[in-house]
Amino acid sequence: MTTDSYLLTVTEVIEETEDARSIVFEVPPELTDTFAYVPGQFLTVAVPSERTGLVARCYSLSSTPHSGRHQITVKRTVDGYASNWLHANLRAGDTLRVLPPSGIFSPKDLDDDFLLFAGGSGITPVMSIARSALEKGSGQVVLFYANRDERSVIFAGALQELAARYADRLVVVHWLESVQGLPSAAQLKAFAAHFTTYTAFVCGPAPFMKAVTDSLKELDFPRARRHQEKFVSLGGNPFGEVEEVLAAQAVLDEVDDGDEEGDEPGAAVVTGPVTVEVELDGEQHTFDDWAGDKPLLEFLEDKGLDAPFSCREGQCSACACMVLEGEVTMRNNEVLDAEDLADGIRLACQSMPASEKLRITYSG
Ligand code: FES
Repeated sequence: MTTDSYLLTVTEVIEETEDARSIVFEVPPELTDTFAYVPGQFLTVAVPSERTGLVARCYSLSSTPHSGRHQITVKRTVDGYASNWLHANLRAGDTLRVLPPSGIFSPKDLDDDFLLFAGGSGITPVMSIARSALEKGSGQVVLFYANRDERSVIFAGALQELAARYADRLVVVHWLESVQGLPSAAQLKAFAAHFTTYTAFVCGPAPFMKAVTDSLKELDFPRARRHQEKFVSLGGNPFGEVEEVLAAQAVLDEVDDGDEEGDEPGAAVVTGPVTVEVELDGEQHTFDDWAGDKPLLEFLEDKGLDAPFSCREGQCSACACMVLEGEVTMRNNEVLDAEDLADGIRLACQSMPASEKLRITYSG
């Protein structure tokens, strides 16, 4: 099964730094609802490939939802086929096949105080969150932004403007490896220790994310106030146009997978009729005939529900939901970690029923 994709026109290609370009899409009025998003989400883009037809890549939206803009930012990496193709070929007026926004790296309440950590092109979703919080929220925003050197700082000018405009609410700390070396765990912890009541978001290379997350754990940041963007790897083809797709990478082409994936308890699949209550988009639905023959996502789609998804392979978390009662067992999980699982988060595209009654929400 494949995902509905849409051909969008590129209206602008902006050179942010030597290695990073922003791509702005025009979303026609009839697709406004389909392409509605929240800060921190990503788009999946089909990049043409002579070898395989296309490769699927996820890139975070760096724009804000309230601006009405759909802008992703792509950093070119040495061996990254897709990022190099986009940099070399994409011009305003071209079209690209794109999947609707997905992802769960998003604040629940823009009025929170935010402690944001970004490493390199990890700034992309963080920029959307920071700007949204400043322009639509009311709290404080602290951004720790690590880069190799001054020339590699994406959105330097935009951040300077924001810091001037929101002088009483925004603090940006630039950390340059060329000047200070890599930030150590002790340094990150000492920094975060000033903001232990804030809600933290972390996006960057795996060692950076691990060091920050470890520091936040040591400082007893509760799970609900600690978010990190997971590596997204699309091994399948959500566009359904070619048989084979190269492994895809998300926000940071250089990010390694990390070691935080959790083990799903291997409960047996219930094959009898299962009752499932689902809360989706503020509406409550109850079904009593899930036969355990297909994953939750497919079951809900058959019932006419517009449940979120992207890869359908347990690799992106776009379909994440929370199990409030009962149990499911996942066929594959390459993105949720042990803490996510302990919180009841499951991937609907991989979830089979493991109890006769289930209560699930998508608004967790
Ligand atoms: Fe990607 Fe379920 S749709 S993990």
